[in-house]
Amino acid sequence: MSIELAVIGGTGVYALGELADVETRQPDTPYGAPSGPIRIGMVAGHRVAFLARHGEGHSLPPHKINYRANLAALKSIGANRVLALNTVGGITADFGPRVLACPDQLIDYTWGRVSTLCEEPGTDVLHVDFGDPYTQTLRRDIVDAAARAGVALVDGGCYGATQGPRLETKAEIARMRRDGCDLVGMTGMPEAGIARELGLDYACLAIVANWAAGAGPDVDEVITLQDVLDNVAAAMDGVPRILRTMLGE
Ligand code: HPA
Repeated sequence: MSIELAVIGGTGVYALGELADVETRQPDTPYGAPSGPIRIGMVAGHRVAFLARHGEGHSLPPHKINYRANLAALKSIGANRVLALNTVGGITADFGPRVLACPDQLIDYTWGRVSTLCEEPGTDVLHVDFGDPYTQTLRRDIVDAAARAGVALVDGGCYGATQGPRLETKAEIARMRRDGCDLVGMTGMPEAGIARELGLDYACLAIVANWAAGAGPDVDEVITLQDVLDNVAAAMDGVPRILRTMLGE
């Protein structure tokens, strides 16, 4: 039985409570080992794979994640569609804490990461089309499922991927707002680009954990990990319903 969907979990999402009959795989790949075991189980009668992007104990910072190995491992077990859960900060008015969003654009501010399959000498150079960085059909499925499941979700938005692991300055966020970013996170790239190079369908379901620096009503608010985790836990409530509806419950 093929794998209908792979889910990559971000900060605060280290398991999919939904998975019944879990089987574990940890394939090696030409790029090395993935962040941790891939758990495969059933959701609404379909096989779903889950991988914790930062490792199950959140041991990997965003710039140390082996994005190539994670995606190649998912592909090697037969997954063709990847739903990426990304914990983010909100920049513009519609993207406050606990909002779920399915962005349609991104800007890459990361640097120094292994960001392509064409890294090693002798590999073919790929210039994949990336005008629309997320697979539109998968985005539509997520947005439609949320609507049918009655889970509020913002359709669209621009994700700015920063290097981290520190959070941003107010001036950095002000610049990102001028650039057109609605959301800020540290793991959206190079993941989306590598997924495109691997020919995988890929879309992001962003979970807003906090107002980005200086972006909220209290411009001097200090962002704490506890607030981030509390808001992710609350917003995650709707995610299993979106998944079940998407998979055809
Ligand atoms: N900035 C970058 N990444 C994040 C944030 C943020 O404010 N919140 C959660 N991930």
